[in-house]
Amino acid sequence: MYNPFSLEGKNILITGASSGIGQETAIQCSKMGANVIITARNEERLKETLSMLNGVSNKMVLAELTNQEELENLVEHIEYIDGLVLCAGKGMTSPFPFSTREKYDEIFNVNFFAPVELLRLLVKKKKLQKCSSVVFVSSIGGNVSFSLGNGVYGASKAAIDSTMKFCARELAPKKIRVNTVNPGMVNTKLIQGGAISDEQYKLDMEKYPLKRYGEPQDIAYGIIYLLSDASAWVTGHSLVIDGGVTI
Ligand SMILES: NC(=O)c1ccc[n+]([C@@H]2O[C@H](COP(=O)([O-])OP(=O)(O)OC[C@H]3O[C@@H](n4cnc5c(N)ncnc54)[C@H](OP(=O)(O)O)[C@@H]3O)[C@@H](O)[C@H]2O)c1
Repeated sequence: MYNPFSLEGKNILITGASSGIGQETAIQCSKMGANVIITARNEERLKETLSMLNGVSNKMVLAELTNQEELENLVEHIEYIDGLVLCAGKGMTSPFPFSTREKYDEIFNVNFFAPVELLRLLVKKKKLQKCSSVVFVSSIGGNVSFSLGNGVYGASKAAIDSTMKFCARELAPKKIRVNTVNPGMVNTKLIQGGAISDEQYKLDMEKYPLKRYGEPQDIAYGIIYLLSDASAWVTGHSLVIDGGVTI
């Protein structure tokens, strides 16, 4: 059947696949025909994701991505890939006077150094096929101050957007494309259970022209576009998916 967005036969590695956007991306990629390799730290939740995938060629590898040995072990488990989704990450709300070097280190280790080092190792070890596609999951927080106290998080995502552009140019001769998706607020564990009340969330949602937060599928579909051959001429791009909040 004609489908320029198909991922049929592509091997795709997805980090942060035990929850939220990464989990939904893994499910949707498998439905689009990909063989998916999923990774995260929590074995139980990662196994649950694996059980939700279409097809029989999917696999999981546990890894703490801030640990160099575990990163290298993950790379060893991979023969070659056609797509890479760097989704693992975490949030932090910290007003500027309380944003110590330790807090920057904590967030940058997960949101910036881990995905960049994983990509570097995969490139160095020639595990990315010609014409493969890399998608960093960034945030609108890298470009706009979407809510107060998110400066540490925003800085980690701004650094990702910048690195993405340099990688896009440097890897273009190998026909490897590199892009980001930049979501607004999405209903996942990352935004739940914090200090923000339901009432505050409702008020915040009102700022969105489309009057709702995103769902993980909203982001997964954008990632699928960037992984597919439909975006063969798209590289160095930040795809904002935010219900219009940054218009
Ligand atoms: N939700 C939003 O509003 C929103 C908006 C913009 C951007 N984003 C970005 O989207 C990405 C996914 O977030 P989400 O909302 O889906 O959050 P989530 O539901 O909390 O999922 C985060 C994922 O990252 C993994 N992870 C965290 N630290 C890790 C580490 N040190 N090593 C390995 N894996 C780690 C977690 O797995 P384990 O705990 O099993 O390791 C989990 O699978 C993040 O990069 C986030 O910054 C989210």
